[in-house]
Amino acid sequence: MRHKTIIEPFRIKMVETIQMTTQKQRERYLKEAHYNPFLLESNKVIIDFLTDSGTSAMSDEQWAGIMRGDESYAGARSWEKMKEAIHDLTGFPYIIPTHQGRAAESILFTLLGGEGKVFISNTHFDTTRANIEYSGAQAIDCVIPEGKVPSSTYPFKGNMDIEVLENTIKENGTQNIGAVILTVTNNSGGGQPVSMENARAVQKLCKKYGIIYLLDSCRIAENSYFIAHREEEYKGQSYRDIAKEMYSLADGTIMSAKKDALVNMGGFMALKDKQIADECTNLLIIREGFATYGGLSGRDMEAIARGLEEVFNKDYLHYRIRSTTYLGENLFDMGIPIVRPVGGHAVYVDAKAFYTHIPVHRYPGQALVCELYLHGGIRSVEIGSVMFGKYDANGNLIPAAMELVRLAIPRRVYTQSHIDYVIETFGFVKEHKEDASGFRITYEPEFLRHFTAHFEQVVG
Ligand code: F0G
Repeated sequence: MRHKTIIEPFRIKMVETIQMTTQKQRERYLKEAHYNPFLLESNKVIIDFLTDSGTSAMSDEQWAGIMRGDESYAGARSWEKMKEAIHDLTGFPYIIPTHQGRAAESILFTLLGGEGKVFISNTHFDTTRANIEYSGAQAIDCVIPEGKVPSSTYPFKGNMDIEVLENTIKENGTQNIGAVILTVTNNSGGGQPVSMENARAVQKLCKKYGIIYLLDSCRIAENSYFIAHREEEYKGQSYRDIAKEMYSLADGTIMSAKKDALVNMGGFMALKDKQIADECTNLLIIREGFATYGGLSGRDMEAIARGLEEVFNKDYLHYRIRSTTYLGENLFDMGIPIVRPVGGHAVYVDAKAFYTHIPVHRYPGQALVCELYLHGGIRSVEIGSVMFGKYDANGNLIPAAMELVRLAIPRRVYTQSHIDYVIETFGFVKEHKEDASGFRITYEPEFLRHFTAHFEQVVG
C-alpha cells in the first residue's frame, strides 16, 4: 500500500502554546512594530515563518545529549563529539566552532577580504554579503539566468553561471578574488538546489585559477535530497554520501548549524588549509572563545553532533521536502505566483507578480508580509528591495532582482493543519488583494536595514 499522505515521522512529546490573536489586535501590533515583522514580539505571532534558522524542534536524542554536555573550557568531550561528526561528514581536517554562521563569516572574511578583494557566489546571503562588504571587499552574485526567473521550473536554479563566473574572475584579476562561495541550497535565490555537476564545474574553475572554493553548507542535507531525486547519476545514493562528495570538492565550508544541524544555536568553519585555519583560530579566540568551543556551550555541541546525523535520515528528509512542496503546490493551485520548483526550506512568493498595482519602490514584498500577518498572524520575511535594494547617487532605489516573500518552515515544528491554516490565510489575502498598499521607509540603518527599518503605509 502506498499512502498519499506524508505524515510527520515523529510523535510530539512536548508542546508549546501558541498565543491566538484577533485581526483587530494584529492591526495595532503591526503599527507598533512600524510594519516590520522583525520588530514584533513572538507571542503576537500565530505561525512563525520568519526563518528556519535556529527554530528547529530538537529530538529526544538531542535533548538527552544536552544533559550530557561537558562544559569544560578546554578539550571538552562534547567538542570531540562535534568535531568528529563534522570531520566525518565534511572530510576537512581543521574545524573551528562558532556561535552561529555569521561569526564564521566575520572571521573568515576578515582574513580573506579587505579593500580591493572580490567574492563571487551564486547568491550571497545577506549576512555573507554584509560581512564581505564590511571588510571593504566586494560581493558579486553569478547565479544562472533561470535562477532569476520565478516561473522557470529548471531543476537546479541555484546553480552558478560558470561562464559568467569565469569572466568575472578574469575581469577582476585572479589575485583579487578572495574566494568563490557556493551556497547550497541557494537561500536568497529561492532555496533552490545546486547540482553536483555544477559544484564540480565550480571546483574545476577555481582549481584552474588557484582560487579558494568555499561551500556555504547550512542546508546541505536538503540540497542532497534534490540531487538524489533530480540528478540522474545520483539516483538511489544516500543523502549523506552525496553531501560528502559535495564537501570533497571544496577547500572549506562555513555552516550555520541553526539550519540542517537541527539546533537552536551554533555554527562552524571546516577548512583544508592549515595556515588559514590557524589565523582563523587566533581571531576566534579574540572574538568568540577558545578553540574547543568557539561561542558554544558543551550542550550545544552535543546537540549539533547528533543533529548532523539525524538530518540525513531518509524519512525525515522526505517529510521535510514534501511538506514544503505541499504548501507551495497548494498556493500555486490557487493562483498565487510562487518560485518554482518549490525549494527546500521555504516557499517564496513572487510579490511583484501578485501585487501588480504596487510599484517596486513601494515594496510589494513588504505589503504582502504585512497582509499575511494581519489576516492570519503569519510572520514571513521580504527578500527583495527592502533586503537588497541600494540607492543611486540621486537617492533613487536600485531594486533587487526579484521581489520575493519567504515563508520559511521551521524543521519538525508545525504539522499539516498549521500548513492548511496558512493556505487558507492566503485565500483571504488574495480576496483583499486590491486593498493592499505599498510602503515607504522612514528609518533605516546603514547595514542589513531590513532587520530594524521602520515603514509607513503609502495609501493610493
Ligand atoms: N548563510 C546562509 C545561506 C544563511 O541562510 C544564513 C542564515 C547564514 C549564512 C548566516 O547564518 O544566521 O547562523 O549567522 N540565514 C538565516 C535565514 C538567518 O533566515 O535564512 P547565521
